[in-house]
Amino acid sequence: MKEFRKDFFWGASTSAYQVEGAYQEDGKGLSTQDIKCVVPGLSDCKIASDHYHRYREDIALLAEMGLKTYRFSIAWTRIIPDGDGKVNPKGIAFYNGLIDECLKYNIRPLVTMYHFDLPYELEKKGGWFNRSTVNAFVRYAKVLFENFGDRVKYWLTINEQNMMILYGAAIGTNSGLTEKAQSALYQQNHHMMLAQAQTMKLCHRMLPDAKIGPAPNITEVYPKTCKPQDVLAAQNFNSIRNWLYLDMAVYGRYNPVAWSFMEKKKITPHIQPGDMEILQGASPDFLAFNYYCTATVSGNKAERGDQGGDQQIAVGEPGFYSGENNKYLEKTEFGWEIDPMGLRTTLRSVYERYHLPVIITENGLGAYDKINENGEIIDDYRIEYLRKHIEQARLAVQDGVDLFGYCPWSAIDLISTHQGFSKRYGFIFVNRDEKSTKDLKRIRKKSFFWYKKVISTNGSDLSNL
Ligand code: BG6
Repeated sequence: MKEFRKDFFWGASTSAYQVEGAYQEDGKGLSTQDIKCVVPGLSDCKIASDHYHRYREDIALLAEMGLKTYRFSIAWTRIIPDGDGKVNPKGIAFYNGLIDECLKYNIRPLVTMYHFDLPYELEKKGGWFNRSTVNAFVRYAKVLFENFGDRVKYWLTINEQNMMILYGAAIGTNSGLTEKAQSALYQQNHHMMLAQAQTMKLCHRMLPDAKIGPAPNITEVYPKTCKPQDVLAAQNFNSIRNWLYLDMAVYGRYNPVAWSFMEKKKITPHIQPGDMEILQGASPDFLAFNYYCTATVSGNKAERGDQGGDQQIAVGEPGFYSGENNKYLEKTEFGWEIDPMGLRTTLRSVYERYHLPVIITENGLGAYDKINENGEIIDDYRIEYLRKHIEQARLAVQDGVDLFGYCPWSAIDLISTHQGFSKRYGFIFVNRDEKSTKDLKRIRKKSFFWYKKVISTNGSDLSNL
């Protein structure tokens, strides 16, 4: 059995708006998430896990767990509060502190530049629909490279661009848009692609020893049966869920099936002269992707469009594919299917298609964790979930996939995209709930000790404690 590489990036992930809190402190501007990501009755991002004030304690815990990598995102609104104006020195200082704290423990920072939290001032001007946001993003990227490029060697451009286009309503990135506005979404998509391409190019120019890649949510799509219509539907969904994004990032071209889908629906983006050259002129050094479970579809008639779904629940596109349950898979408490073997097949598909090193930047189990009478959190279900996925990741390595890291979601408990604080993913429990922030005390879950052992044995001992 092949082993994980000696320098395997054993990590864990968070994103700024879901973990930091301090949403208006030290000059930070408001983001779309500060405005929109408030589901009535559920917690919001104002305090979140208070990582902003407690990052030293948090990083020390991550170091104790043995983490080699910490994947976090930078809030654009801390660096440039209105998205395109003055740089905020206090924002730079905060991330300098966070990065230095990681490096103190030899934890490699893996930085996402943008994770769902567009500056609200840019959103007011049309957000990604407005082409000037492309320039604003590239300028923001330049500020990041100038300030942090001496220490950050691994960059992720945009988190889950595909989910922002398909399920933006659920994750709070396009609450104003309806299905009718699909053409606007694909225009936004085009602009994000341009921003990403220019940023990758800039990174290579400014930081020759750094590496950069995209971070979509990628998953194998199964046909419900071997009926040819179902197989076709699976290819269809694959094209607009997965390959549209990766084909563009790697080859700088629109996936043909996705393009024909857009043509048929009359939602093709406006492409300016020179755009395709920009897109073709950039390439990633590696591919990162988030994986939670697979998708299953049929060629049945879908009733409504995908805007009713979420990151892992496909609804369908009338005439293109219909989302289906997979009767072979169990589900989490929150209705997401669990498919460890799907991680192996997804890794194979991505590697066979693009031949680039791969890192998993999210994978994890959202659950209602509870503290027992001894003050412990015995999350065996999470250990089981992660164990099975790591096993399959190792089998993918055996299959020849050049996998260089695994960063489960999430390092510590944080706010879910649309299901509040009760849906927990972390190795570290944060003592708060939906209604009260309590004392925000950090408590190591059982999975914390288990993951520590996994890391210290480079993934060769996955047994429960
Ligand atoms: C991914 C996102 O889609 O899934 C994260 O990148 C998110 O931001 C994670 O939190 C889990 O999803 P959810 O909806 O359970 O928070």
